[in-house]
Amino acid sequence: MDEIILRNGLKLPTLGLGAKIVSSSNEKAKQASYDILHYALETGKCNLFDTSESYGMQEAILGEALAATGKRDSVRLITKVGNKSQRTGNIRRALEASLRKLKTSYIDVYLFHWPQYGTFIQTYKEMEKFYEEGLVKSIGVCNCHRHHLEELMQNVNIPPMIHEFEIHPLFTQSALVNYCIAYDIRIIAYSPIARMHDVLIKAKPIRIIAARYGKTPVQVILQWHRQHNRIVIPSTANKKHFDEIYNVESFSLSEKELAWISSLDDNVRIRYNSDMCDFNHL
Ligand SMILES: NC(=O)c1ccc[n+]([C@@H]2O[C@H](COP(=O)([O-])OP(=O)(O)OC[C@H]3O[C@@H](n4cnc5c(N)ncnc54)[C@H](OP(=O)(O)O)[C@@H]3O)[C@@H](O)[C@H]2O)c1
Repeated sequence: MDEIILRNGLKLPTLGLGAKIVSSSNEKAKQASYDILHYALETGKCNLFDTSESYGMQEAILGEALAATGKRDSVRLITKVGNKSQRTGNIRRALEASLRKLKTSYIDVYLFHWPQYGTFIQTYKEMEKFYEEGLVKSIGVCNCHRHHLEELMQNVNIPPMIHEFEIHPLFTQSALVNYCIAYDIRIIAYSPIARMHDVLIKAKPIRIIAARYGKTPVQVILQWHRQHNRIVIPSTANKKHFDEIYNVESFSLSEKELAWISSLDDNVRIRYNSDMCDFNHL
């Protein structure tokens, strides 16, 4: 499995599994979430899991699956402090709750979920303390624009090691990607297959390249990400889809093919823009 190495030496697999929000009242979704996580851990194909305190029952379900399989120490966990905890200033309480739910004594990658105005710098300063105490093995951010990163780096001691934000061929975010590379900030691409957006899955470059290599559109898109040296965290609750994602039998896209896929960029953002959010409702 390919890895990337953070500035502090921490190694992370490049292919992880994203999480779906699971509400406490939805028994079917809870079972589906447990089943896919248990399957991912048992097969040993997936060693990186992305979650958040904001994803309902998801941290607790992942904690159950980790306990049942005894795989905690062979995987990396990413989790995030949510907006409500940022607003109330209960960052340490949020971390403690995540540790309890995930049934672990440490988090590998701790991020803030959104750069909420007025709170994100103070939140990050708390996260720096957790890093120094060894409770989290790395710290970083999500959903920042360049101006958030600039403001953060002027005010904190440990520049973010990692940044998780939306990237896929319809939204390549090349300026932000280049900024992160220049400042040694590793990248996690979320919504990496654009939630199976029709325009992407049916796009000519994707279809033609998939047929050329005998791969599926999802495999081609994930390979495009991997050749850009970033982590991807597609989500699925379906074992067949999981097998398709993790069928990472090597194939390599040419520079021309990579550029053809990148040419699909049409500024199609499918998630929120952090400069346009009402954080009281997010
Ligand atoms: N930091 C943040 O603010 C933030 C925001 C959004 C997302 N994320 C993270 O990124 C992860 C992924 O993002 P996402 O869920 O928005 O989008 P995504 O991974 O691009 O798309 C997920 C969708 O694709 C489907 N899918 C996956 N593999 C497939 C396959 N092989 N064939 C057909 N359909 C397939 C899944 O349905 P099935 O379940 O039916 O397979 C699911 O509905 C999230 O789970 C979360 O961990 C983070």
